Amino acid sequence: MTSHTAYLDWNATAPLRPEAAAAIGEALAQTGNPSSVHSHGRAARAIVERARAQVAAFQGAAPAEIVFTSGGSEANHLALRGAGARAVLVSAIEHDSVRQAVPKAGILEVSPDGVVDLDALDRRLAVTPGPALVSLMLANNETGVIQPVADAAAIAHRHGALLHCDAVQGAGKLALDGTSLGADLLTISAHKLGGPAGIGALVVAPHVLMAALQAGGGQERGRRAGTENLSGIAGFGAACAAAAGGGDAWPRVAALRGEAERRLLAIAPEAPVYGAAAARLPNTLCIGMPGVAAATQVMALDLAGVMVSAGAACSSGKVRRSHVLDAMGVAAADAECAIRISLGWSTTAAEIDLLVDAWGALYARTRASAA
Ligand SMILES: Cc1ncc(COP(=O)(O)O)c(C=O)c1O
Repeated sequence: MTSHTAYLDWNATAPLRPEAAAAIGEALAQTGNPSSVHSHGRAARAIVERARAQVAAFQGAAPAEIVFTSGGSEANHLALRGAGARAVLVSAIEHDSVRQAVPKAGILEVSPDGVVDLDALDRRLAVTPGPALVSLMLANNETGVIQPVADAAAIAHRHGALLHCDAVQGAGKLALDGTSLGADLLTISAHKLGGPAGIGALVVAPHVLMAALQAGGGQERGRRAGTENLSGIAGFGAACAAAAGGGDAWPRVAALRGEAERRLLAIAPEAPVYGAAAARLPNTLCIGMPGVAAATQVMALDLAGVMVSAGAACSSGKVRRSHVLDAMGVAAADAECAIRISLGWSTTAAEIDLLVDAWGALYARTRASAA
């Protein structure tokens, strides 16, 4: 990356790690269906099982607990629909792949800082007929706010409920894994960690009985039918191994994020930083430029070579109202002016300079034209 562009949209997707690219290349060169018993099949199976061990080690799980899926969205669906829950409670700030997986799910409110209300969870579970499942993300994709997943798991277990954690954004950025969180089900996605898009996993604790959502060849111990995505799985495993050893990058990223935040607030002291009072991911900054639509900011920054996102962008690229900021009680007019800046392990100080200059220039222009 030259200093003429700044990729600051890591929560959308992270760059492919060289280790993952190498593993993908090797896997693509391997002919063979992992279910075939001949030597090519066995070689493909060895690639899958090596990657499964890498993903499992990354999450402190046993290899048999890993179910490969087509990504975080499918893993979330599998958890919410396949674990046999009769009642599902999800936090108001979950990704749409959780919020929409079970249309009748109960919604758990969050505080103005964007943290789920655990007392409300306790009260709701006391009157919810089981078997119940609670879904709470590790960290929010828009604000970076970290959720009290271990506490929520303890409450869920006290009521005999299961806890599913969508750890897509938190995994790798926080020194926490499924075991330390106490989650019964946990979702991760490769492309947020430096692996390829289109592959992810659901970590299923041994006591959870999973029903597959699709019938077929019985792969993944009957929990997810379909011939394995060999190259994707290989890249995912390599990315997890690299991410497991890359924890020391995050204090530097946190310092850069802090610097970006300080400098943007020095330009516009009235700018709201969403979730600022809560514990956040080290890489995420959700900030508003009052009176300037997020889409305008994203376009102006893009013209200056700076790539960020306008809160929740859906697949069409259109900007939708953010259900996350909504749940935090942010007025619609303010939420429309919020952008998400997200950094990663290779973000440089020069990229932050570019961001601050471009955002500051837009701020000055809009203030001058309003005067
Ligand atoms: C919190 C969260 N969960 C799930 C997903 C979906 O993951 P995938 O893109 O692998 O389907 C995303 C992707 O943005 C996410 O941020």
